[in-house]
Amino acid sequence: MNILVAVASKHGSTRAIAEAIGEELRRAGHTVEVREAQGTLSVEPYDAVVIGSAIYMGQWMAGAKEFVAQNRERFGGKAVWLFSSGPLGEDYPEGMGIPATLDELLAQTGAREHQVFVGRLDKSALGLRERIIARLVKAPEGDFRDWDAIRGWANRIAAALESGG
Ligand SMILES: Cc1cc2nc3c(=O)[nH]c(=O)nc-3n(C[C@H](O)[C@H](O)[C@H](O)COP(=O)(O)O)c2cc1C
Repeated sequence: MNILVAVASKHGSTRAIAEAIGEELRRAGHTVEVREAQGTLSVEPYDAVVIGSAIYMGQWMAGAKEFVAQNRERFGGKAVWLFSSGPLGEDYPEGMGIPATLDELLAQTGAREHQVFVGRLDKSALGLRERIIARLVKAPEGDFRDWDAIRGWANRIAAALESGG
């Protein structure tokens, strides 16, 4: 199948999650493009779509929201999965990593599932405003991404596509 992995990432860690998902889907025999999620990107040529975004202040990034809004009439008949990243640390509040507009995103895409992955925070890469917010919310610094969970999820997508979508 021809699969699009569309991703919105500010500091690159969600992008790397999307690349790992793309790798697993390729390994399962699919043709995969990992592209930046933005309003001008169309889902038209693809059979299945995985859409992911980093979460900032409880929201998906603008590019991911615009991508979904611009394509909302085109998702019919396609298999769609969503993911967000994400919470930081080993112990984070329940509901963290779930975008505020999840219901709308699910309705617009007809997605089967929304998955949350733990993310990465590198304070040295943040702008001043971001650094102040990270300090205020006492966000733990480090790379908490769980590659087994990420690759496992991609393999479950591959299995679902194999068994007829
Ligand atoms: C200013 C700021 C605000 C954030 N807000 C949230 C949030 O509301 N919910 C959440 O789960 N993670 C939040 N995060 C954590 C990021 O989503 C996490 O660092 C993610 O891995 C970043 O992805 P990226 O490298 O692709 O940009 C925030 C991080 C920063 C720096």
